[in-house]
Amino acid sequence: MNNPVRLDLENGIAVVTIDNPPVNALSHAVRAGLLRMIDTAEAGGAQAIVLIGAGRDFIAGADISEFGSPPKEPYLPDLCRRIEKSSCPVIAVLHGATLGGGLEVALSAHYRVATQTARIGLPEVLLGIIPGAGGTQRLPRLTGAEAALDLITTGRHVTAKTALELGIVDHLANAPPKEAGLAFAENIKGQGQRPTSDLPQPDAADFDAWYSRMEQVHRGQSAPKTAVRAIEAASSLPFEEGLLRERDLFLTLMDSPQRAGLIHAFFAERAVSKLPELKETNPRDIHTIGILGGGTMGAGIAAACLLKSLPVTLVDRTRAAADAARERIAQSIQGAVKRGKLEDAAPVMDQLVTTAEDLDLADADLIIEAVFEDMETKHEVFARLDAICKPGAILATNTSYLDINVIAARTSRPEDVIGLHFFSPAHIMKLLEIVVADKTAPDVIATGFSFAKRLGKTAVRAGVCDGFIGNRILSRYRMAMDNLVLDGASPYQIDNALTEFGMAMGPFAVADLAGLDIAWAARKRKAASRTPYERIPTFADRLCEMGRFGRKTGQGFYLYSEKAPQGIPDPEVEAIIAEERAKADIIPRDFRDDEIVLRFMLAIVNEAAYILDDGIARRPLDIDVTLVYGYGFPRWRGGPMHWADQAGLGRLLDSLHTLQDEDPHFWAIAPLLSRLAQSDQSFADLNKGMSR
Ligand code: 3HC
Ligand code: NAI
Repeated sequence: MNNPVRLDLENGIAVVTIDNPPVNALSHAVRAGLLRMIDTAEAGGAQAIVLIGAGRDFIAGADISEFGSPPKEPYLPDLCRRIEKSSCPVIAVLHGATLGGGLEVALSAHYRVATQTARIGLPEVLLGIIPGAGGTQRLPRLTGAEAALDLITTGRHVTAKTALELGIVDHLANAPPKEAGLAFAENIKGQGQRPTSDLPQPDAADFDAWYSRMEQVHRGQSAPKTAVRAIEAASSLPFEEGLLRERDLFLTLMDSPQRAGLIHAFFAERAVSKLPELKETNPRDIHTIGILGGGTMGAGIAAACLLKSLPVTLVDRTRAAADAARERIAQSIQGAVKRGKLEDAAPVMDQLVTTAEDLDLADADLIIEAVFEDMETKHEVFARLDAICKPGAILATNTSYLDINVIAARTSRPEDVIGLHFFSPAHIMKLLEIVVADKTAPDVIATGFSFAKRLGKTAVRAGVCDGFIGNRILSRYRMAMDNLVLDGASPYQIDNALTEFGMAMGPFAVADLAGLDIAWAARKRKAASRTPYERIPTFADRLCEMGRFGRKTGQGFYLYSEKAPQGIPDPEVEAIIAEERAKADIIPRDFRDDEIVLRFMLAIVNEAAYILDDGIARRPLDIDVTLVYGYGFPRWRGGPMHWADQAGLGRLLDSLHTLQDEDPHFWAIAPLLSRLAQSDQSFADLNKGMSR
């Protein structure tokens, strides 16, 4: 686009419009255009300047696709200062997304009018940075330090009404942006400029307490705590010095790997649904949902659908089981009311039918099966669904591991069968793996993605294999960690090292949460097909034999009590592990935390490379999003494939060779990883050209 900023004179008032779709981000051309139009308006003797965005949004912030390249003048802070020092009164009209640098432009204007559509915030910390164009200095002068600390450290958006209450905007308008701006300009005629930087410094807050809180809440992350120091500068330094301090802190964060990781995550989560087959196909209409099986997952999926106004018919084997499911769903819906997501549970629950009669599923547009994880049961259920469901209905399975091609083959319509793999709790977790079987029709895949969007979930396309993308990787890193325990590390050291690395929970704490009996059952099921090289975590079998199934029994790897609901280490577990090592003639060794983290990451990255080679995931970014959204991988590290690129594939390959000497079968190196490392390529290179 040649000129993304234009100026129209309306009765002596310069209306400057930023027109840079899709969200009017402050690209270099926009910054230069804005500067030029301010000059032009002043030179033409405009009585006032009204800033608006074309389309839905005012300005969604800096153009983050420019991050990582050398910045080009005019820089945003200079543009903001120029606006503030304009000889014409400047009025910003906040509408739609008014975020980050967009809000900083508005804070530099002399007056702010907001329309009802405005979503206002400084979300920079979510990208690993802080506001870098005066936001940390101007916002606290308008709102006070406490409110600014809250807004900037959370990055949350507020409505126009809240912004008015906080003192961010001067006036709420019930008109389109241009009319709102022109009417306001009439009202303030003759009142001149009112620079935010002239306002008194905000009173000090307890900045040290805020800083420590940020260190605790955002473990490992730099941006939130750095934001506290920048806001502190607003109350302790004169404006110009505060700006310099903010700039320093901002530039340090811009150079950080956390910024790179979070920007990668931002684009990756938007790219996952950009698939060629989705462009060419229309999804099927989905008005009613059927769910088969009302246990943990069925009830959670029902709640997820109901919360998005989709009517649900849920079938379980008996009336009592169906009633129990209804109760569980009601609790989840009540939880949403408590969390302020919903006003009234009753109309939502009215959209739910629970029954033991599977014929009630006959008219559903999409049926999601969530019965026991057992192939025989799935076979029976799918043969029955095939018999009773209307033509064109989509038959989805929530299986965690089973072969969906085999399940589909039990029906006369394998093209209508797909995997919709939700995560527990299904009404909360954002990830949905869309598992595409060999014969799944393109419009069924498209419906999976549009259904995910309707539920507010992030959907990733996966192919059929044991565990798809996420659980296949999970099985591998669990095995690597079990092997580490056999060789000498304690589960507690491992969990600690990995939470320090940034994982939401360690793998042994997760195992306790999921129930140790589940993995035990899987080990028994797979015992016959086990290769002679596979090592068995006999210590975990021992815990299960003792009835220690994890949280639900009060004991697993950890001991749980009312006093310690999160669990505490148990010396008895360490004794059992020591016995099992002795039985297997293993002489335990010490592992450093960084060695643990490296093995954990190598297990993930190596398996992920096999998954890519097998075509189970299309792009590395699909794996990044799966691990971040479904498995508690730290978003600020961008995902495991991004992490691998940062670590250097050559270096990782060297480490894998060393581990291969130790255990050639477990650490067999994925050919793709070797190819990339040897040709000096990265996973990011594989993402290129596959995300549009
Ligand atoms: N820069 C560049 N592109 C952006 C962008 C930005 N700031 N914000 C959004 N986009 C792009 C998206 O990548 C997407 O592109 P695509 O269609 O090619 O995938 C398109 O705009 C639409 O975005 P969404 O799909 O996210 O659309 P939604 O309507 O769901 O959400 C939004 C719109 C609320 C604006 C959301 O995109 C968003 O939160 N954007 C980021 C806002 C932000 O973080 N701003 C701060 C930037 S940092 C900054 O300003 C630094 C300053 O202090 C110096
Ligand atoms: P669950 O044991 O809690 O619930 C299963 C429900 O299915 C029970 O209510 C049972 O009565 C019902 N059921 C069994 N056979 C039935 C039939 N023929 N007709 C109607 N209802 C029947 O199991 P859970 O945990 O909800 O798992 C269900 C499925 O979801 C499994 O395939 C599992 O692998 C998968 N899954 C589980 C996750 C979890 O974290 N629990 C996560 C993701 C997927």
